[in-house]
Amino acid sequence: MVKFETLTTRGKKLLSHFESVESFSLFSFSEKESLEEVLTKFSTLTNEKLPKKLQSLIESTEENLIQFNLKDGRLVLLNKVGERKKLHSDSFRRAASTLVRKLTSLKVAETLIIPADLSDEEITLNFKTHEYYIQTYLEGFKLGAYKYEDYLSKKQSSVISVKVYYPEVSDEKLREIYSTTEVLMKYVYLARDLQNKPSNELTPQKFTELIKEYAKKNKNIKIKVFDFEQIKKMKMGGLEAVGKGSDNPPYFVVLEYNGKPQSKDKTVLVGKGITFDSGGISLKPASGMWEMKGDMSGAAAVVSSIFAASELKLKTNLVGLVPLAENMPSGKSMKPGDIIKTASGKSIEIDNTDAEGRLILADALEYASKYKPKVVIDLATLTGACVVALGQFAAGLFTRSDELANKLTEAGNITSEKVWRLPLWDDYHSLIKSNYADVKNVGGRWAGAITAACFLEKFVDENYQWAHLDIAGPAFQEDTIPYNSKTMTGYGVRLLIEYLRQNS
Ligand code: BES
Ligand code: MN
Ligand code: ZN
Repeated sequence: MVKFETLTTRGKKLLSHFESVESFSLFSFSEKESLEEVLTKFSTLTNEKLPKKLQSLIESTEENLIQFNLKDGRLVLLNKVGERKKLHSDSFRRAASTLVRKLTSLKVAETLIIPADLSDEEITLNFKTHEYYIQTYLEGFKLGAYKYEDYLSKKQSSVISVKVYYPEVSDEKLREIYSTTEVLMKYVYLARDLQNKPSNELTPQKFTELIKEYAKKNKNIKIKVFDFEQIKKMKMGGLEAVGKGSDNPPYFVVLEYNGKPQSKDKTVLVGKGITFDSGGISLKPASGMWEMKGDMSGAAAVVSSIFAASELKLKTNLVGLVPLAENMPSGKSMKPGDIIKTASGKSIEIDNTDAEGRLILADALEYASKYKPKVVIDLATLTGACVVALGQFAAGLFTRSDELANKLTEAGNITSEKVWRLPLWDDYHSLIKSNYADVKNVGGRWAGAITAACFLEKFVDENYQWAHLDIAGPAFQEDTIPYNSKTMTGYGVRLLIEYLRQNS
């Protein structure tokens, strides 16, 4: 666990804080001048003489971490984040997340961060503000320290307190950054926990109960829950078709947060909530199928973001729509060739039962129209094709609105939960024509991520701006980015909160 602690940077208290702290974490670019600069600053601040061998360490080492002890034995870790000209918004998040693991393995319980000195230009270009710059360090500590241990009988319980020395930001502002980052990270953790939970422990019903529990603790959030009978009554034929094959029935959960009562503007967030995707009758191959316990990553991001927005008191009105179902093969399952009807009245020919996400989203997108929203954003682990196109470093973004595309791209760049726009041209719609129904649920071999988005577009109301984020790649990660190692990333929470913060 990582705790943020206040450091009073003004006045006499400063030196005494430095004297009592257990370890120091310095950050710098890898160029020699930059390393020397930060060490000189450190030595002046703390009144400490640095070891002589340090000079040779700086000159020789290829390592990203230089480690040394002060005369009294206290530990100093100097982190290199790479070349100055390659600085980006994620440089320190990544470095801090690697560092926190190092500190844990060294059993260090407390550290004082001394951030790299950046020019105003570097700050504006990469982080917009000094505040967000500092936030990226804190996020890195939290993201890197995350562990999923719910089912381990022996849990690790190390606690690290983190302080920051950064006089460019006032103590009061620093405390504010600490507390907003704590809240944000609490909900990134929630999203990751939900993704990690196995599907026997997180059925649609259990997911619903869990959301209810959170909603009970938060008076600013209204919740509505629809069970299988109500889903059928509402003619949500897509959610019904997917849910009926499983012994664990589907649910539809609606969350509402009114953070700006004086305004009628609403943003609707829709999240794909397949608690397990076996493929259904069009069964998936065995290898790697376990990962489909995370096919509710969109729902996890939406639920977590709405609770985060409320706890951060964002001045915005939000609706979260979460269709939850398990995609299983059984005697009751939908079958290829079946024709179903969604809440919109449109009919769908099922070509492949593994293209289930779009079926439950179709009903949710129709439901979104009730709110007359300004913007609708859906997040879904929708297609393997999107991962083939973009890998795990970005979500596919589909929208007709350049304005919405720009806003999401900007939020993606600063949070480093990146999005990359793919086309939604009319041409592609011809690929999902059906001989038997209004639309077919699969578009064939080519452009799978795009035809999936085109399918969703059929159920979208022209009166709102809509963006679809295919998060099948970044929701899961191997060891590609240090703070995301070991698969479940909680992707989307930081992106959505930043988007909402900038646009409310
Ligand atoms: N949940 C999967 C997509 C997925 C794949 C997410 C890999 C994360 C990692 C989705 O329901 C699915 O099965 N899509 C099919 C669509 C196909 C049948 C048109 C796919 O991508 O193969
Ligand atoms: Mn599927
Ligand atoms: Zn799926």
